[in-house]
Amino acid sequence: MPADPAAVERVKQLREQINHYNYRYYVLDSPVVSDAEYDALMRELKELEARYSDLVTSDSPTQRVGAPPLAEFGVVTHRVPLLSLANAFSDEDLDAWHQRASKLLDGRAFDIVCELKIDGLAIALVYEDGMLKQGATRGDGLQGEDVTPNLRTIKSIPLAVPVDGAPRRFEVRGEVYMPRTSFRRLNEERARQGQPLFANPRNSAAGSVRQLDSRITAERRLDIFVYALGWAEGGSPMPDNHWETMRRLKQMGFKLNPNSRQCRSLDEAKAYCCEWGEKRAGLDYDTDGVVVKANPFSVQGQLGAVGREPRWATAYKFPAEQAVTLLKDIGVNVGRTGSLNPYAILEPVRVSGVTVKQATLHNEDDIRRKDIRVGDWVVVERAGEVIPQVVGPVLDRRTGQEREFRMPETCPECGARVVKSEGEAMTRCPNTACPAQLYESLRHFAGVMEIEGAGDVLCAQLLEKGLVKDAADLYALTQEQLLTLERMGDKLATKVLAQIEGSKTRPLARLIFALGIRHVGERIAELLAQHFGGIEALAAASVDDIMKVPDIGPAIAESVVAYFREPRNLRVVKKLREAGVRMREEASGVTGPRPLAGKTFVVTGTLDAFSRDSAEAAIKGLGGTAGSSVSRKTDYVVVGRDAGSKLEKAKVLGVKVLNEAEFLELLRQAEARTGKGR
Ligand code: IVH
Repeated sequence: MPADPAAVERVKQLREQINHYNYRYYVLDSPVVSDAEYDALMRELKELEARYSDLVTSDSPTQRVGAPPLAEFGVVTHRVPLLSLANAFSDEDLDAWHQRASKLLDGRAFDIVCELKIDGLAIALVYEDGMLKQGATRGDGLQGEDVTPNLRTIKSIPLAVPVDGAPRRFEVRGEVYMPRTSFRRLNEERARQGQPLFANPRNSAAGSVRQLDSRITAERRLDIFVYALGWAEGGSPMPDNHWETMRRLKQMGFKLNPNSRQCRSLDEAKAYCCEWGEKRAGLDYDTDGVVVKANPFSVQGQLGAVGREPRWATAYKFPAEQAVTLLKDIGVNVGRTGSLNPYAILEPVRVSGVTVKQATLHNEDDIRRKDIRVGDWVVVERAGEVIPQVVGPVLDRRTGQEREFRMPETCPECGARVVKSEGEAMTRCPNTACPAQLYESLRHFAGVMEIEGAGDVLCAQLLEKGLVKDAADLYALTQEQLLTLERMGDKLATKVLAQIEGSKTRPLARLIFALGIRHVGERIAELLAQHFGGIEALAAASVDDIMKVPDIGPAIAESVVAYFREPRNLRVVKKLREAGVRMREEASGVTGPRPLAGKTFVVTGTLDAFSRDSAEAAIKGLGGTAGSSVSRKTDYVVVGRDAGSKLEKAKVLGVKVLNEAEFLELLRQAEARTGKGR
């Protein structure tokens, strides 16, 4: 049918919009619209193109899937293209998919495999003679980026697999993702460093895999679920259907999602979709649907593909955990380090079963970047995150009455003039005695030191009554003082005091974290505790001293030094010490720097320069742990001559193997970091 001018115009508009969103999403890793909105635009465009075939052009976004490879990486041409999937949004869509398939198969019945559709980054791994040879991103499906060194850092990707019972060469495909807990931790760390935040776990997984420096990837705690065999040749043949092939891959050491299910009928598949629509909230990774696949490879072959979309599979999309609502105002609260945190005050709206009235807005730059204005209709998301987020404004609904947000010039809590340093996303209140900061830091201290009973209410009361002016005052509280508080009885007061007493023996890293030093999160506190071994040494350290700690840069080092320069903070530390709070790492047989802390080694076989015992002593002397059996938690297996099953196991599990020369080099480098030298 020839298109009318309105359709021509609409198609043009849709393409421009979609191309822009694609660019933001794939190239900049910084999306501006919700998946639901994007899907709706794409669907409209597909429908128009289906109706008016003369409007289809080869550069239409419907004809291309994925991102072009980045020039910095080598280009990998996929031997068999990585397809994308058509979407189903309802039971009716699933019926339509099944009917179409059944018709093409002349009514032949087939079983179905349902798998969670993991929201991450598609990758392809090529193995040859049991060894991981190449890892690539999906790219545009035909060509991807060679990101082998980066993928090798992901512990759940086997670097070697058994050759017996496996094809000689094969490719497995899967989704690399960032667990939600790791994502939250990463963003917390980035917020502290004043770096831009990742919008969601998928973007941070994509950003982490497409790093030019694989050491950054290695720090990002990525994981994988393998979901297909791409192709295979030589060696042992694989089963003739998807389900059994996946079980075989699992035996070989690949990580599969444990929630996949083999279904005998479409009804069972629908039940799976419905079940996981509810249950997915409890997972530690994001899923955006269910991939419904015809199981027998013969059926897959017979059904084939149309363009880039196979007819043998479809993606059932979960209803969005998003809603659109009115942004009534933007409020600002003050965090424990004095950061002014803007938040959205919303017309209450239900998002995946919960009424949302407020949502975080991160910082002023983020609000500007997303162009969020007071009075806007905004997309609100609770995608797995407990705290709802404002994704962005619905531009079509702008009336011109909306107003841009400005950070207040004075602290809304204490009236001090706020500061915003150059290159920093956060605006802060510089007044360390600001009541909001005191409250937040007290809450933080009590939480980190695990003082049960010292929650929001008690902290607020203690500050209000003037019983506590900083965290150290907690240790001077008496039963009589506590009893002056509302709703405080003898029993509760005794319990709170016991909890406070008990917190004196928390590990040093906890105490450092609890102090609330800017940029010092849980992990950095751990590193500082390991390196300095005591608060005194940390307080006396210079920026240069602190920067000697691996992974710690100037921003953190300067922030630590600034903290201990502040007389108020020094007084707090002094009071904590006088109260008997543990200030040093408990003697663990190792004193001084511990560069191998957190790393587990297994030594196996005969080494030239070491006995087994002396090798283990060298590891422990640098703070590492020497284990006796290899597991996924092992970081390194050191192999000497005649190494046996432990080496095999390391290969299967993808644990890094070091020969003696590599081990010596690692010790040398670790020792160099202690300043002792080998
Ligand atoms: S099968 C033709 N299985 O979804 C088969 N894909 O649009 C396509 N995805 O980018 C792949 N979980 O990365 C398959 N269990 C799963 C999946 C899955 C996530 C992603 C995949 C691809 C997209 C397909």
